[in-house]
Amino acid sequence: MTDCDNKNVRNLNLYFDNAATSWPKPEEVYKAAEIQMRQGCGNPGRSGHTRTLDADRLIYQTREAIAELINVTDPSRIIFALNATDALNIALKGFLSKGDHVLYTAMDHNSVLRPLGRLRRDGVITSTLIPCSETGFPDLDFLEEAYQADTRLLVINHASNVTGTIAPLEKMIKSAHSREVNILVDTAQTAGTVDIDAVAMEIDMLAFTGHKGLLGSTGTGGLYVRKGIDLAPLREGGTGSQSELDMHPEAMPERLEAGTINNTGLAALLEGLNFIKQRGVAAIREHEIDIRTYLYEQLQSIPVVKLHGPSDSYSASCIVSFTINGADCGEIGYVLESSYGILCRTGLHCAPLAHKAINTFPEGTVRLSPGFFTSKEDIDFLVSALKDIAALAES
Ligand SMILES: Cc1ncc(COP(=O)(O)O)c(C=O)c1O
Repeated sequence: MTDCDNKNVRNLNLYFDNAATSWPKPEEVYKAAEIQMRQGCGNPGRSGHTRTLDADRLIYQTREAIAELINVTDPSRIIFALNATDALNIALKGFLSKGDHVLYTAMDHNSVLRPLGRLRRDGVITSTLIPCSETGFPDLDFLEEAYQADTRLLVINHASNVTGTIAPLEKMIKSAHSREVNILVDTAQTAGTVDIDAVAMEIDMLAFTGHKGLLGSTGTGGLYVRKGIDLAPLREGGTGSQSELDMHPEAMPERLEAGTINNTGLAALLEGLNFIKQRGVAAIREHEIDIRTYLYEQLQSIPVVKLHGPSDSYSASCIVSFTINGADCGEIGYVLESSYGILCRTGLHCAPLAHKAINTFPEGTVRLSPGFFTSKEDIDFLVSALKDIAALAES
């Protein structure tokens, strides 16, 4: 937060940017990272001493906790990566091969659009974009007609980071599986806040990030790969196992993990996962629906504010995007921070096609993303700031 002497500033970090990364974190998350750095710090799998074994245990427990969250019984099918972007790259580049056709949607993030663009430019794949409605829902009729004989994968963004729109996952999975097309789900905006049963939903691959709804630190994320899907590794190197071979181990999870794992990040993530388990995903979701509904209704009362995305908060993650006719989004974000101490995100949010779908390209939107720790009082302060800004925009 920049220095600010406006007396309206109630709290120098009123944080409405949880879709970028969540803040604050539960107290235990901060503590676990510090303890791990100070006292843990063994290199997992590399030696036989106590610290190494402790680091191994920590990583295994975190794998187990992720597996439990998405109802997967075999933790070895969970691999850790740098973030959701890394996990999506591992999935896309490890799964697709020459001649494959891919379906993806307009709500996809650049972490899907850019790897697919690379594979397309390199002549590896062809692809078809599934258009989305003005509120961000994929066109399911279009999807039904888009399959080809060589279609191998459908990529689904579980919830849009622009509008919050939750994709009709079950219907899309059923549609793809009936053609023997596999599924990759991007849960960057839903893991930890929306219930996901990867087995019951028959998800083939699921990418997650550790620093948003899972309440852990940046630099963590990963991928669930169901049994029967063998990805070609994106990276090869040290694993601490089979060191005599110049071939990377084939067994999961080492197959898709190389180099020293971020055990400080995972120590924090494990505490985030413990917090979510204690509260329950259902209760977290209920709270987020409640505060999104409150925020949406308050913003609706400001006439010049145009809201984008579903009005029904049961169909969205905890995101509300808006524009004010004629006003620059970046400027609104700047005034919110410099005059009121409110932090949010403005622009295209790394999802240009989503903005084309909702008719906010190229200016983008102002995105408000409350989180688990946001109160209605915080929202009241935000809304009163936006009323001031809207009045200025009108005058
Ligand atoms: C829908 C979606 N997918 C992927 C990502 C990438 O996540 P990460 O920053 O963990 O790489 C984001 C991040 O904002 C996102 O919102």
